[in-house]
Amino acid sequence: MKIRSLTARPILDSRGAWTIETAIELWNGARAKASAPQGKSTGKAEAPAIPAAAAIANTNDLLSSHAARVDFRDQASFDALLCEINGGSARAKVRLGSSATLAASVAFLRATAQSRGVPLWREVGAAYGEPLPSWADAAKPWLFANLVNGGLHAGNNLDFQEYLAIAKGRTFRESTEIIADLYRELGNALVRAKGKNARNVGDEGGYAPDFSSAEEPFRIMARLAKKLKLGNKVMFGMDAAATDVPRGARSRLGERYASFIRRYGLAYLEDPFGEEEFGKFAALTEKFGGEIWIAGDDLTTTNTNRMARALKEGSVNAVIVKPNQIGTVTLALDAVRAARRYGWAVIASHRSGETDDDFIADFAYGVRADGLKLGAPARGERIAKYNRLLEIEAEAAAA
Ligand code: PGA
Ligand code: ZN
Repeated sequence: MKIRSLTARPILDSRGAWTIETAIELWNGARAKASAPQGKSTGKAEAPAIPAAAAIANTNDLLSSHAARVDFRDQASFDALLCEINGGSARAKVRLGSSATLAASVAFLRATAQSRGVPLWREVGAAYGEPLPSWADAAKPWLFANLVNGGLHAGNNLDFQEYLAIAKGRTFRESTEIIADLYRELGNALVRAKGKNARNVGDEGGYAPDFSSAEEPFRIMARLAKKLKLGNKVMFGMDAAATDVPRGARSRLGERYASFIRRYGLAYLEDPFGEEEFGKFAALTEKFGGEIWIAGDDLTTTNTNRMARALKEGSVNAVIVKPNQIGTVTLALDAVRAARRYGWAVIASHRSGETDDDFIADFAYGVRADGLKLGAPARGERIAKYNRLLEIEAEAAAA
């Protein structure tokens, strides 16, 4: 696969911040583009990004001239070149940054899929190269929808960042309907209880009014799930994003989680402690790991070295995989392979600053992740991922 042109330009993300979009054309005529999301509650160990303007300039000068000289065997060889050009060490700064490497990496994968005439998720599966888990009873990934926003993603009084509804329908269509119904009911209930401003949303499309306590969102969502007779098709979870919880609100976290688990049947807990607190994670996983998923995000940053440490210390039994945390498709697939070897659940995830790029849906389906975090069914950049999953379902049925 030889690249005829590779060009980057600035586009906006969902917070109105500049990010990078990269277009690739192969000599065989295939053309594709991809853009990079950007986080706000980012982990310190994430692969570094550089400002969009510098990332774009270096992609157009440095990367495009290097890439034009190589005949690439596969995704791994293209991604290896990205890492080589990116460079980076204790002394030298990276030259592309994770947004530029990811945008180029995904654009290349899309161009390859197009060359072969297969859907993108199939190309993800081919690059993954491992046997896929066969999920007999349900469509996976399950949808992890962030229906109430707090922390750094909203201007309200919630210290915890995300209140998640997890839909386990038999199809993506059914899961999407479950989330959309619950989301609308929740909006109505919040308006009734708190006034018309309660339907205003945060960065990931979840509602963001003030609440009387950290557990009130769970109480309301549990009541509505019962009213809608969702039964065991819906579960609840939380991304505490504890590194960004204000210091004063960090006392007795373990006890509070235990109460959420007991009272609301919480099935999923992400980043319950700070990003270096491997030991505190381990104590919680020791206690509750038999019944619920405890996931690392800022703790593990899609980085196999940090994942190996989390395994050694028994910190988690699930992991968030965000391709832009590590910078290429190949490295994100390495993280999935490691997680599967460790017996962990895999939850692929968008970022709080998103574009309309829907790659993460193909990634999640391509490796049959257990979950996909995609925000609430609101705002175009979130809806793009739901709608792509619905399209994938149709493509898979037609195959
Ligand atoms: P971020 O948050 O995209 O702002 O980092 C998402 C998360 O913590 O899962
Ligand atoms: Zn998180």
